[in-house]
Amino acid sequence: MTEAAASAAEAKPAPEEEQIELNRREFLNIAWLASLGIVTLSVSGMTLFFAYPRFREGEFGGVFPYGPVSGLPSLNEGPENIPKVKLWMANTEEGLYAIYKVCPHLGCLYGWSDQENKFICPCHGSQYEKNGDYILGPAPRSLDRFVLTIVDEDGNELAQTPPDGGPVPLPDNENAIIRVDTGNRINGENHG
Ligand code: FES
Repeated sequence: MTEAAASAAEAKPAPEEEQIELNRREFLNIAWLASLGIVTLSVSGMTLFFAYPRFREGEFGGVFPYGPVSGLPSLNEGPENIPKVKLWMANTEEGLYAIYKVCPHLGCLYGWSDQENKFICPCHGSQYEKNGDYILGPAPRSLDRFVLTIVDEDGNELAQTPPDGGPVPLPDNENAIIRVDTGNRINGENHG
C-alpha cells in the first residue's frame, strides 16, 4: 500500500462511526424540526386565542342580546334586574343605562328599593340614583356602566353609550335591538 492510500484509509471513518454520525445528524434534524413545529403551533394558538372572542354571546364578559326596545321597563318602573350578566337595565328620562351590579366600594351586590326609589348597598349603606349616580356612603364613585348599543332590524347602529358612560337616547323604533357589551365597562365618576 502506498503512503497516500494508507493515509486515505486512515482518514475514512469506520462504517460504525459513519452510522453513529448519521444517527446524530438525523436526531439533530428531527429535534430542530420538532422545535420549529412547537413554535409554529404556539404562534398559531396565540393568534387564534386573540382573534376569537373569549366569551360567548349571552354570557357575562361577552355581548348580551337584551332584545327589542319594546321590552324595556317603562320610565315609571324600577330598573330591570338581569343577574345572568350582572347588570341592571335602567330606563330613565335622560336615556338608557346598563349598570354593573357590583358596588364600587368593596364589591357587594347592591339592590334596588322601590320604596326609596334608589339603589342601596346592604354592606355599608352606599346609595345611588336610578342612573347609577352616587348619592351617599363610603363608595368612592358612582356605579359602573356597560357600553350598550342599539341597532335597527338591519343591524345599523342607531345609538351607543358615549365614552363617559352617559345615557343612550331611545330611538322611536320599538323594534330596534339593544345589545350590551358586558366586557366593556366604564368606571363611574369619582366624587369629592
Ligand atoms: S360594598 Fe357597597 S357600600 Fe361597601
